[in-house]
Amino acid sequence: MDFSNDLSVIILAAGKGKRMKSENPKVLHKICGRPIIYYILKQIEALDPKNIITVIGYKKEQVRKYLEESFPEIRTVDQDEQAGTAHAVLMADKYFPKMCKNILVLSGDSPLITSDTLKSLIDLREEKNLSVSILTSISDDPYGYGRIIKDRSGKILKIVEEVDATPEEKEIDEVNSSIYCFEKETLIENIGKIGAGNAQGEYYLTDMIEMFIDKGKKVASFTVYDHDEASGINDRVQLALAEESIRDRINKRHMKNGVTIRNPSSVFIEDAVIIEADAVIESSCFLNGSTVIEKEANIGPFSQITDSRIAQNTVVNSSVIMGAEIGPENNIGPYSYIRPNTVTGRRVKIGAFCEVKRSSIGEGSKVPHLSYIGDTEMGSGVNIGASSVTVNYNGFSKLKTIIEDDVFIGSDTMLIAPIRIGEGAIVAAGSVVTRDVPGDALAIERAKQKNIGKGAIKYRNRKNIDRE
Ligand code: UD1
Ligand code: CA
Repeated sequence: MDFSNDLSVIILAAGKGKRMKSENPKVLHKICGRPIIYYILKQIEALDPKNIITVIGYKKEQVRKYLEESFPEIRTVDQDEQAGTAHAVLMADKYFPKMCKNILVLSGDSPLITSDTLKSLIDLREEKNLSVSILTSISDDPYGYGRIIKDRSGKILKIVEEVDATPEEKEIDEVNSSIYCFEKETLIENIGKIGAGNAQGEYYLTDMIEMFIDKGKKVASFTVYDHDEASGINDRVQLALAEESIRDRINKRHMKNGVTIRNPSSVFIEDAVIIEADAVIESSCFLNGSTVIEKEANIGPFSQITDSRIAQNTVVNSSVIMGAEIGPENNIGPYSYIRPNTVTGRRVKIGAFCEVKRSSIGEGSKVPHLSYIGDTEMGSGVNIGASSVTVNYNGFSKLKTIIEDDVFIGSDTMLIAPIRIGEGAIVAAGSVVTRDVPGDALAIERAKQKNIGKGAIKYRNRKNIDRE
């Protein structure tokens, strides 16, 4: 069914989230790289409502800023004193569009809800012409939730909050998700009539149910099979549980799109990451931010990749890559650290225990072992010997190294920047190079070697050491 013209949505997100014990508003706590509220809004967008209103209060400027940047079509309404969920809805009621019949109310802290379930809830209200349909679930651990009180025939009577519940009521395992679909006129007529005579002295939206029933209005519940969908986040334990579910959904989405994920329960992929079909993600990897993994890439075990692109057929093994663009058919790792603004061409090798920062490395170049390359422009076909370092920092500023095409740098070479090594040049192992090297030149900077005949024997005699 198309709800676009007769659906308006309110998200309650003004509460402090006391149980989070945080300086930050609850709805901005992150799950797989996105704020909690993002997931709710994505599901709501799929319903294509006429408008979406978010009620904000605690740290409202932070929430408003996020919403303005990420969901500019959403209206925010202030609730400066958080006097309860009914009071929050009251703040929004003047913004309900005239045409809308259905007002969907959700909490900003229930990120696992799906648009299909929301549709069923709205359909139920419409089909049965209810004043409100309430989304409920059956929980193994109902502690903290409002309980659904029904009569013997299964008709809903009221919702009782945990703090107001009798011991018998606490035994009930059907809980309120805090997601409702109201008939607009009935909601507007009654929302201001709720009192605050309860253990918390708050205006509870849940009291609407008993009020409706007293007035002979039609009320029914829709029980979602998977309690997860209806679950709310009140503390960090529930935050971790929700992240577990969303992580699992993200991994399954990629696998269904043709990505192989080995041991998915060990793999953590943030929501915005893009992975092409036929990429392989090995065990214990973390893919974060705006990372893109192209087809046939193999992200080896124990890798952590953030805001980076890994091109086709590249293999990354046990390495950390941040803010980098790794070209096709590269071989990275094991145990390398690639830092922001690194760009590599085709068939580049950055082997074991290397660090690369703000550098470009041209096609076919190799940095195979134990090197640091920083602020460097490296051409194609270059070979950097083991343990060589571009010495880019003089204690005050960062300086540039240019290594032209087909240069060979021997092992344990220090290139003191600023410096240019010309095309085809060779730098002998162990050199400390402080001056530019012209193209095709051989640079060597070493003390002359001296061999003292039988010197080792004399040395041992002096120290009284026998040779084994
Ligand atoms: C609420 C329900 C409870 C339900 C549970 C489901 C009420 C009284 N209780 O309890 O029946 O089982 O959700 O998760 O409704 N908020 C405001 N302004 C306020 C108070 C709250 O915007 O003045 C917002 C909060 O930011 C939050 C949502 O409303 O997003 C729910 O508030 P919360 O304090 O989490 O309610 P619960 O105790 O979880
Ligand atoms: Ca809650």
